[in-house]
Amino acid sequence: MERKRILTGDRPTGRLHLGHYVGSLVNRVRLQDEYECFFIIADLHMLTTKPEKQYIEEIAVNAREMVLDYVACGIDPSRSTIFLQSGVHETYELNLIFGNLVTVPRVQRIPSLKDMAQNARLDEMPLGLLNYPVLQAADILLPRAHLVPVGKDNESHVELTREIARRFNFMYGETFPVPDVMSGEVPTLVGTDGQAKMSKSLGNAIYLSDDEKTVTKKVMSMYTDPARVRADIPGTPEGNPVFMYHDAFNKNKAEIEDLKARYRTGKVGDVEVKEKLAVALNSFLGPIRERREEAAAKPSYVDEVIYEGTLKMREVARETIVAAKKAMGLSGVWNKISRKAEDARKKRGEK
Ligand code: TRP
Repeated sequence: MERKRILTGDRPTGRLHLGHYVGSLVNRVRLQDEYECFFIIADLHMLTTKPEKQYIEEIAVNAREMVLDYVACGIDPSRSTIFLQSGVHETYELNLIFGNLVTVPRVQRIPSLKDMAQNARLDEMPLGLLNYPVLQAADILLPRAHLVPVGKDNESHVELTREIARRFNFMYGETFPVPDVMSGEVPTLVGTDGQAKMSKSLGNAIYLSDDEKTVTKKVMSMYTDPARVRADIPGTPEGNPVFMYHDAFNKNKAEIEDLKARYRTGKVGDVEVKEKLAVALNSFLGPIRERREEAAAKPSYVDEVIYEGTLKMREVARETIVAAKKAMGLSGVWNKISRKAEDARKKRGEK
């Protein structure tokens, strides 16, 4: 039996952090054999907030960094397809078709788009940014994916994708699966500053490629229970970012329980809790760093991974576009006209 498919990916903003890992990367690695996986480097989505040439020039470098992180986490290019969105022209085609199956008020209700506009300091909504989730639907349905492992902030985009798939199938006949969303066990990871979300732009991220010293330094200056000015004051592990990271990354569950119990009764200092977290994080990141360095040492390895993946994706995309246009009767329009014109030419003895 053919395996079901996964499509997910990221905008190439550069190196990935722990939030990416728990939100989606861990699921990708885990499901790599059960599903046929496609991972998109969504460079066209970058244009929705940063269309300036200076940003486009950074994409190739950032894409390489990101793919190194993919490989470092255990995504295996010999089993999974990693591709560049702008290298698959069918994306633009499906995006345009899908734009007609969605209303403006529907996309205006998606909260993440307003956030993105605000973060990019745009005071009016660009049409392209409003179209962001429609383009994402094209990404997801181009390989006819069944499952989309994404972070919490992308769930509403997958919901729209489901609506588009249903609408297309209803109007033109069964063509696309209605894909399910899959969130990580920790759908959004807090930042080191205790802010709601770990994010590059907030400067509160621990990167998968950070070295030991950097990780330790970031952990030691993490935000923690602010009520605890002394180690003998009882503290609250719940909602405390240091303990959330312990829960997410420390494999020694007995150690976590012991620290939590002592924290609640004021029998452990924040320094010890943080030191143990730094050790746990560094042992989690150790093998990831090693694989990253190995891959980075092979010249043009990453470029070839992206190249091969994009060629593969093009074939899959072609099949889908042909099927979609056929279902719509859209290819028939050109076929009728070109056939008549070609016949006429032939009759006149031209070729
Ligand atoms: N929107 C994703 C992000 O926040 C990137 C992305 C683009 C994506 N197309 C996708 C994710 C398709 C999952 C599926 O960076």
